[in-house]
Amino acid sequence: MTRVIEGSAPSKAIIVGEHFVVRDQPAIAAALNIRTYVKAKEHSHEYIRIISTNLGIDVKIDMRLSRKVPSDIVPFVRILEIIRERFDDLRPCLVIISSEIPVGSGMGSSASTFTAFTAAYLKFIDIEVSLDEISKIAYEAECIVHGKPSGIDNTITTYGGVIAYRKSEGFLRINAKLSEEYVWLIADTGVRRSTGDLVRKVLELYDKYVDIFMPLYHAAGHLAIEAGKALQNGDYVRLGELMNINQGMLSAIGVSTLQIEEIVYKARSSGALGAKLTGAGGGGAVLILAKRCDATKIKNAVRPYARQVLETNISPKGVEVKVIS
Ligand code: PMV
Repeated sequence: MTRVIEGSAPSKAIIVGEHFVVRDQPAIAAALNIRTYVKAKEHSHEYIRIISTNLGIDVKIDMRLSRKVPSDIVPFVRILEIIRERFDDLRPCLVIISSEIPVGSGMGSSASTFTAFTAAYLKFIDIEVSLDEISKIAYEAECIVHGKPSGIDNTITTYGGVIAYRKSEGFLRINAKLSEEYVWLIADTGVRRSTGDLVRKVLELYDKYVDIFMPLYHAAGHLAIEAGKALQNGDYVRLGELMNINQGMLSAIGVSTLQIEEIVYKARSSGALGAKLTGAGGGGAVLILAKRCDATKIKNAVRPYARQVLETNISPKGVEVKVIS
């Protein structure tokens, strides 16, 4: 029988604290059950073929791991190089990637893909590794796409659940009290943007208005700590309020847009507990926290302003692998 392994990994959403985290304030991020699936299948060819239905990619990587491949594929070659260096093994296979995560919207689609790919491929070649190892390999691939990212994305897509992150202190797992009574909605604006450009724009404004920005950043740090406590206590009403305050701060530092605000205000006026941009802003996704009973009303209200609206929940699980056959 043909051997087939499936790896899957969640997406990530920053619940509060993006941008402020760049200047060493804490941020809170969660894994969401919008996932990437990577199948690794045996085939009778002497190459590794990667097909991504979402990205329209169908590329063959030779077993010498030549980097003469489209730029989208270079991070996968990097992962395979690391695997060959560390485990002295590499086998041909067919890799099929499918993802539910909107690309370039601040939901960690690349990290989710690299995490699921690493886990699936290692299982395919019968190598058992720790989650920490998977996360580290995925981070190497993330560096090719994003320069020098914080590591939030590969951490959350590997481990799942909720984390607090601070540059100077690293990651801390938050024991969030999850509840079936609440749902998370993702309204994707459909506007792709560059995280690097937005971070630069915010830092320029910071330098221009240091005395105003400093206390704002301080307040955002306190807000993130409060949001972490609200998650631990299962106080979703308070968490929603904190998200709304954080959105005001993100708007103040210049990363919201009219479309984001339209979605935010439509969501709130339809009963959302909290609504804010997530990730770098300037487009991307809006994260909405709602009572399950209000979800349909909110989705209908924001749909005319968004490219797509997804309903999900926090995924306590991170990367998973299963042997299909
Ligand atoms: O949109 P994303 O997923 O690239 O998130 C960016 C988050 C920032 O805080 C704006 C930047 C960062 O490196 O933390």
